[in-house]
Amino acid sequence: YTPDLIRNFSIIAHIDHGKSTLADRLLELTGTIKRKEIGKNEQVLDKLKVERERGITVKAQTASMVHPFNGKSHLLNLIDTPGHVDFAWEVSRSLAACQGALLLVDASQGVQAQSISVFHIAKERGLTIIPVLNKIDLPAAQPELIAAQMQSTFGIDPSEILSISAKTGQGVEAILQAVVDRIPAPQSRRDEPVKAFLFDSLYDRYRGVISLVNIQDGVLRKGDRIVSCHTRKKYEISEIGVMYPEEVATDILCPGQVGYIACNMKESSEAHIGDTLHRVGEPVLPMPGFKPSKAMVYAGIFPVDSSDFPKLEESIKRVRIIFISTSWDGDEDVFNSQNSVTTPVTYQRESSSALGQGTRLGFLGTLHMDVFRQRLEDEYDANVIITAPTVPYKLIYRGGKEKLISNPTEFPDASDPSSKVVEIQEPIVKASIIVPEEYFGDMMELCYTRRAEQLNHRYLDTGSDASSSRLILSCVVPLSEIVTDFFDQLKSRSSGFASFDYEDAGYQKSDLAKMVFLLNGKPVDALALIVHRSAQDTVGRAWVKKLHKVIPRQLFEVPIQAAIGKKVIARETLSANRADVTAGLYGGHYERKMKHLENQKEGKKRLKRIGTVDLPQEAFFDILKR
Ligand code: GTP
Repeated sequence: YTPDLIRNFSIIAHIDHGKSTLADRLLELTGTIKRKEIGKNEQVLDKLKVERERGITVKAQTASMVHPFNGKSHLLNLIDTPGHVDFAWEVSRSLAACQGALLLVDASQGVQAQSISVFHIAKERGLTIIPVLNKIDLPAAQPELIAAQMQSTFGIDPSEILSISAKTGQGVEAILQAVVDRIPAPQSRRDEPVKAFLFDSLYDRYRGVISLVNIQDGVLRKGDRIVSCHTRKKYEISEIGVMYPEEVATDILCPGQVGYIACNMKESSEAHIGDTLHRVGEPVLPMPGFKPSKAMVYAGIFPVDSSDFPKLEESIKRVRIIFISTSWDGDEDVFNSQNSVTTPVTYQRESSSALGQGTRLGFLGTLHMDVFRQRLEDEYDANVIITAPTVPYKLIYRGGKEKLISNPTEFPDASDPSSKVVEIQEPIVKASIIVPEEYFGDMMELCYTRRAEQLNHRYLDTGSDASSSRLILSCVVPLSEIVTDFFDQLKSRSSGFASFDYEDAGYQKSDLAKMVFLLNGKPVDALALIVHRSAQDTVGRAWVKKLHKVIPRQLFEVPIQAAIGKKVIARETLSANRADVTAGLYGGHYERKMKHLENQKEGKKRLKRIGTVDLPQEAFFDILKR
């Protein structure tokens, strides 16, 4: 296929607006997959528990298809983008391989927060946008109203909107025509040196790393020796082909094409998304805008039974499907690439006096963390203890030196006079919430309790009847306030109607402190938190109450305290309990008595000693589970 017969496009949409269903329909219409295979395919995609529970797809689905237009066969490459706010940067990178995008909007739900953010990403990239209204088969669909919304929000001419039902297939054929007709062909040149843009990667147990590439210029062949612009490492292409929709070897990729390459990359961390590859000895200018993924949320992960650490670490390796090149316990290894969905951005060993040996991982966001946790628990076949999530804070020292920290234990102690930290900053984000007018008050309240500033709002629908009016609310809010239960709160306070999105907005000075929890006067390192001073009392009280409920009673009274520096913020007292397991067994029931004592001994093994207090490690699981 010459470039004029190629179209590279993505489907962009808010979660649940029908991206996967439409992708399947397009593949089916072009004969890339058979109809009966679709059921199978969906099952495969739906296999992961977290995807089922959250109702979202996190697996990539890049595929090529062939479609005739004006008597000529065209090659259409559908490039998948991840569908969640955590992956905004990944979306932007995948879109760099496209010239156009289908903006899919649910005709019953209308424009949502992510419809807007993905629209802007696509616009910034200069892509041709084909607006599509989906789910017109639903009785609740309001195509005219939503079309007007798309006009007022995006400045889209309603006559350009295609109305479809991805479920029944109605109108889907017209999408294929529009892709060929409206989206420009890639401006790729055959006679230039090879320039391949790496936009995604997967891992294959046998062949190692498979990179998905878009050939910007030149012709790439099997056997070619290539170099990464980012790492300067050299490779030889052992296999090359297209995704149809599985890998089909072709031995050659022509300018404008999208396909896969296998070379001798052993670790997924070598496949840097956004990297440019060229032939050895034929240098090119790399594609602009490369930046590694940035961890926004960190958490410690520990086994419930501390002797299980090697098994846990093994499972982490398997879930990441990554093999660490350097040392497994070196300083913060960065794996900023591949299949971001299951790969933590950073990995570091961590040991805690309360929880023993564990790891500290960095994620793109809390969903990313949840997806990873769920897969880890499936692989590891047991629960894991995850510490409260922390965002990266910035410490500014006297003299201007800066340091980013991601672990509360590294945070300076509020009462330490020798601390050279003069300022503490926290990451902030620009958030947008779209919500029906009736929930506006609840949303404002939620934002206020989360320290939101610069609150603004405007109506999304113009001229429609007041009962269905929706508002878009925007604000600047600390990231730490949304990595906990913000999303759940947003959903429950709006009966599920609110949609939400955010983008990075840098750092801001903040009045933060480290809160520690003490059992009988001894701090428990794994429970330390960073809190904003304005919330310290509420947070301290809530945690102390929770600890009081979860920690088993001891043979003596145990004070449970929350403290900042030397100041105690909250306190509960756990009353004493005589754990005499044989108390109820009178008479000569010797055997039964012995068995009880044995059981008690077994239990003791798994107890953690914090000062004088014995805690089963499971208690931490209960304390920290969200
Ligand atoms: P994520 O993977 O979470 O991004 O969602 P998605 O955008 O891929 O949505 P998906 O294709 O999984 O569709 C979400 C739900 O909407 C599914 O239950 C689909 O069956 C349903 N759906 C998709 N298209 C249509 C449609 O045209 N009509 C109706 N009635 N339902 C549809």
